[in-house]
Amino acid sequence: MANKVDYVFKIVLIGDSAVGKSQLIARFSKNEFSLDSKATIGVEFQTKTLVIDQKMVKAQIWDTAGQERYRAVTSAYYRGAVGAMLVYDMTKRQTFDHMTRWLEELRGHADKNIVIMLIGNKCDLENLRAVPVEDAQEFAERESLCFMETSALESTNVESAFLTALTEVY
Ligand code: GTP
Ligand code: MG
Repeated sequence: MANKVDYVFKIVLIGDSAVGKSQLIARFSKNEFSLDSKATIGVEFQTKTLVIDQKMVKAQIWDTAGQERYRAVTSAYYRGAVGAMLVYDMTKRQTFDHMTRWLEELRGHADKNIVIMLIGNKCDLENLRAVPVEDAQEFAERESLCFMETSALESTNVESAFLTALTEVY
């Protein structure tokens, strides 16, 4: 018999193209990673069921294109989301500078109480770092976001980032 799901939580990922949104989701939901991942077109989602505080929580993780021309209807994407991950590539300064715009879009469309995490992905490429931890921490503090650096490639903090988001929601 199937286990009963106590909660379904919708989490959305946003950020520029190629920052690693789809690979973070692949790592978390299937423990997979691909170096030649294709740009997302429209909207996709994955689910993963996990136990938090002895409750069955089904995470429904939504992924959309970072590229404007491939993006689907914005309001539908954010509807019902209880958590959001703002993802930048820590080797590309511009993707971090764009976080303000993504945050604006998110705050314009999502529920007021949504839990927001700032994610600096690709921390395996430390020698190519273009965003100091302090800059990200300062931005996160100013905007009241949780902050973490992750690597979908090396599995660093991926589980922990999603768990933090889900636990904060819960
Ligand atoms: P769009 O779908 O276009 O918005 O891009 P995306 O944010 O989904 O990026 P995607 O997950 O497709 O990853 C883009 C590229 O970055 C791919 O070549 C991935 O293999 C690579 N990548 C993703 N995560 C990491 C990481 O943690 N480290 C490294 N080194 N590369 C990564
Ligand atoms: Mg993608």
